[in-house]
Amino acid sequence: MKKTWWKEAVVYQIYPKSFQDSNGDGIGDLQGILRRLDYIQSLGATVIWLNPIYASPQVDNGYDISDYQAINPAFGTLDDFKQLLDGAHRRGIRVIMDMVLNHTSDKHRWFQESRKSKDNPYRDFYIWRPARDGKEPNNWGNYFYEDRGSAWEWDEATQEYYLHNYSKKMPDLNWDCPSMRQEIYKMLRWWCDLGIDGFRLDAINRLQKPQGLPDSPRPCAPPVNPYGYIVDREMCANQPGIHELLKELNREVFSRYDIMTVGETGNLTSIKALPYVSESSREINMVFHFEIAKNPHLVTPAEYKDIQKRWADVIRQGGWGTQYLTNHDSPRQISRFGDDGELRVPSGKMLAMLTHTQPGTVYVYQGEEIGMINVDFPSIDYYDERYTLGKYQSMVEQGADPKAALDSLKMMSRDNVRTPMQWNDGKNAGFSEADPWLHVNPTYRAINVRAAEQDPDSILYTYRRLISLRKRHPVMVYGDYVPVMEAYENVVAYTREYGDEKWFMLFNFQKETQQVVFPPWLHPESAGLIMGNYPAPNDPSVLQPYEGRIYRLR
Ligand code: GLC
Ligand code: CA
Repeated sequence: MKKTWWKEAVVYQIYPKSFQDSNGDGIGDLQGILRRLDYIQSLGATVIWLNPIYASPQVDNGYDISDYQAINPAFGTLDDFKQLLDGAHRRGIRVIMDMVLNHTSDKHRWFQESRKSKDNPYRDFYIWRPARDGKEPNNWGNYFYEDRGSAWEWDEATQEYYLHNYSKKMPDLNWDCPSMRQEIYKMLRWWCDLGIDGFRLDAINRLQKPQGLPDSPRPCAPPVNPYGYIVDREMCANQPGIHELLKELNREVFSRYDIMTVGETGNLTSIKALPYVSESSREINMVFHFEIAKNPHLVTPAEYKDIQKRWADVIRQGGWGTQYLTNHDSPRQISRFGDDGELRVPSGKMLAMLTHTQPGTVYVYQGEEIGMINVDFPSIDYYDERYTLGKYQSMVEQGADPKAALDSLKMMSRDNVRTPMQWNDGKNAGFSEADPWLHVNPTYRAINVRAAEQDPDSILYTYRRLISLRKRHPVMVYGDYVPVMEAYENVVAYTREYGDEKWFMLFNFQKETQQVVFPPWLHPESAGLIMGNYPAPNDPSVLQPYEGRIYRLR
């Protein structure tokens, strides 16, 4: 297997709006991040990924870009960005940008031109269609459940509809348009020439729309979309033609620089993954799949193991993968996969150990390393993000009890991870002098960076140790992955082997204690315990709630 820096990387994801405010307006910014680079360095992360920082009306917190080559003034200036890039590089930290190529803001100059007339040179940059029988061109619903649901918006000026899979303020770009593609490549090269180190590619497997934009054939039950439009995320995912587009992107941009690329690919399982990420495909380096993190259905440990095994095979066949349990779109991992009450600390450590010892590049989302948990907002007025608001409204319009609607959305709301970073137990958790744009999670008094740094037994130190282990032991990155003891439903166990080294990882993925019998070839009593989230056991065959252990067999 070829060694590369991005396989060895530990990426720290920063949600700039919520990380650190430097000028007292309640909004995180680039100077704030600059101030915290030493903290990120002390964690050991080797790359930071910034959620979108471009000029944007902030309909979707920056995923609605109005100018790809300008910085959102609330975050700072291009000069601030260059300082940040430089500050990171001086600390040996690379920087990757979140790049949104599926859509722009409706305020983007291209769209402003495009909607002017049917013969405008920018018309084809977006997807315009005439009405079908006086209605929308097809039955697609937008993913944000916005405005009664259609994915099409009527435009009076030219008497046609435009496609928006997300908000109507985020029209989809038309990747069948060659001149649009050239503009995008130019813009991407401009960022690379500035010295950035890669891209996280938003919704990248959705660029190619299906030929003829057919109706979705899949029925859709209320309360998901009561208006007859079908929110079918399969329709635009992994369509024929997508690989040609990615190969062109690679040829025109990615292959010309020493950068990493990670695609966000909803609706992609391991079965179709290899063409995207195999080295010989020359497309992108790795993808974020959602088989574990996004699914509202909580995976069982057995499903978790099966998913990990299938993605390990993708790597074995010449691709690469990612390991993460939280990002800016999913709940806090401890609340979801662990226990955010009494067992917060052991379960937080176990989830970290799991993530860092399985194959793939590791991603840590801000606050995860101190064990931040979901927020319990008392009413819908506290929420900000489009998806929760849209879904809430559509449920209430349909007659649902508002409180029940809110309760059903709470666990999965994206605002759980977007509350401000908890730096200390002072005013606004040390995030800002002013009222933050989104309420601070009241748990900040106990859960914050300062407290974690003062407690050698905190989750934070587990992250620091794991990351430093990863740097010293290539087995954690390149080691062959073999699941063991598979008969225990709630136990996750595997070996990793690389050169002379062989490690054994053992996790009790549940609240209950568990007794195990080791296979005859495995003698944990004589193996070295590299790390655990409980004191070394007297009897290794008894696993405590959410216990995790890393052994070195040779
Ligand atoms: C991706 C982003 C998400 C955003 C959406 C639309 O899923 O991660 O935050 O809302 O794309 O750009
Ligand atoms: Ca600010």
